[in-house]
Amino acid sequence: VDKVVVVGVEEVAGVGEPGVRSLSTAPEGYTGACPNYRQPAELGCFSLDSQRTFHDDGRLLRYFAPPRGGDDPRETPGVETNGGAGAATAGDCRTGDPAIGGRSRGWQGPIDLDVGWSVPGAYIQMDAQRAERLDHIVSWLSRHRSRFALPGQAASLPLPSLNTDFVTWRGHLTKVLGTPYERREGWQLAATLFRGTRYMSEVETEAARREREMRSLRQKQMCYWGYKFEQYMTADRPGGEPDVSRPVNTNEGFCTVVRTRLAGHSLVFAGEVDCRAGERPPPSSYVELKTSREVVTPGQRFTLHRFKLMKWWAQSFLIGVPRIVVGFRDDSGHVQHLQTYETLKIPKMVGSEEKMWNAAVSLNFCEAFLSFLKEVVTRDDPKVVYLFSWEPGADVTYRVYENSEQTFLPDWYIEQFRD
Ligand code: A3P
Ligand code: MG
Ligand code: MG
Repeated sequence: VDKVVVVGVEEVAGVGEPGVRSLSTAPEGYTGACPNYRQPAELGCFSLDSQRTFHDDGRLLRYFAPPRGGDDPRETPGVETNGGAGAATAGDCRTGDPAIGGRSRGWQGPIDLDVGWSVPGAYIQMDAQRAERLDHIVSWLSRHRSRFALPGQAASLPLPSLNTDFVTWRGHLTKVLGTPYERREGWQLAATLFRGTRYMSEVETEAARREREMRSLRQKQMCYWGYKFEQYMTADRPGGEPDVSRPVNTNEGFCTVVRTRLAGHSLVFAGEVDCRAGERPPPSSYVELKTSREVVTPGQRFTLHRFKLMKWWAQSFLIGVPRIVVGFRDDSGHVQHLQTYETLKIPKMVGSEEKMWNAAVSLNFCEAFLSFLKEVVTRDDPKVVYLFSWEPGADVTYRVYENSEQTFLPDWYIEQFRD
C-alpha cells in the first residue's frame, strides 16, 4: 500500500513555500507573449526492437518512401491546399517537398490500410500492461553521461549530476501543452528529484486504463490503420521500397533524445520518430506520419483543426520535427490523399479561426507547470515521488509518496551515481 506522506506543501514543515498547493490550467491565465523555446538539438538516439528490447543505436530508424503522384512532385508543402474540404482524388497526392525526397514510384490509387487487419499474426501489439516508465531513457542516459559535462568539467569522471532541470518523454510534455485546451482526459505525472534533475514519468489514470481495456474492435482497427500507414510510407533504407507484407509490430520504434530549453528550464527528453527524409541534420530531417478521417463537412474540419492539429503541432514542435505527412482516409481505411503540414505554420493556420487554440498559451502553461514543479519538488531523493494530478475543469494538485510503489527510478540507475 502506498504511503501518502503529505497532501500539499503547507503540511510539510520547512519544505516549499506555504500556499503553493495547486496550479490553474485555465487558458485565460496564460495569454501573452510566447516564451522562448530553443531549437531542439539531438543528443543521440536509441531503438526498441520487435521484442521491445533496448538498443543503443538507430537500427530501427525508417526512411520516408512515399508514393509520388499529382502533376508537380516538387510542389511546395501544401498547407490545406484544397481548403481541407472535399474528397480528393488520387491525383491529389501531395507529398511534394524537394527536401523530403522520396522516389518516383507512381501513385497506384488509394492506399488500403486494412490489408492484413483480419489476418492472424499480422498485428503484434505492445504489452500495454508493462510499465516501462523512464527505463529506456535512463538506459540511454547511463550510457552517455559524459555528454552532460559542463564546460571545464572533466567528462571522464562519473558525473555527479546531469546538469539538466528535467528529464522526461516527449509524449508527457505533449499532454502538458494540451492541458489548457483539453476537456476529456486528465493525467497523472510522477516527479522525482535526483541529483539536481527532476525526472517526470506518466502514471496511467484509472479512467485511461478503463478506456484502454474497453476499446472497441473498431477503435483497434483504426489504430492498426495508423501503423499500417507508417509501413506504406517508409522503407528500411534510403531509396528503399516499403514492405507492407510484414506484420505490424507496435513494439518497434526509433527514438531521438534531444536537449532544449523552455524559458528558464533546461530539458532532455526522448520521443519516437516515424521516419527520416533527406540529408539535413536531425531532428530537421525527421517526418511525423499521421492518418485522419477525410474532411468533408465543416464539423469534421473544425475537429481536425481544433483537436488533432493542436496535438500534432505540440508533438512535433516539442522535438523539432518540421513536417507532418497526413494520410486522409475514408471509413473503410482507404487513403485517397496525402497532405504535408509544416509544423511551425500550424498555429498561424488555425489562429485566425474562432474557438481555436493558441500556441503561446500552451507554452506559457508548460513554462508555469515546470516552474511549479521546481517550487514543489524539492527533496532530492530517488525514493520520494511527487504525484501531480489533473482532471479537466480543475487545477493541477499533487501528493507526496515516500518509499512507495510510486518510486520509478530503477535501483541500478541510482547505484551508478554513488560516489
Ligand atoms: P495515427 O495517429 O496516424 O492514426 P504516432 O502518430 O504518434 O506516431 O502514433 C502512431 C499510431 O499509433 C497512431 O496512428 C495510432 O494508430 C496509434 N496511437 C498513437 N497514440 C495512441 C493512443 N494514445 N492510443 C491509441 N493508439 C494510439
Ligand atoms: Mg510514431
Ligand atoms: Mg505518427
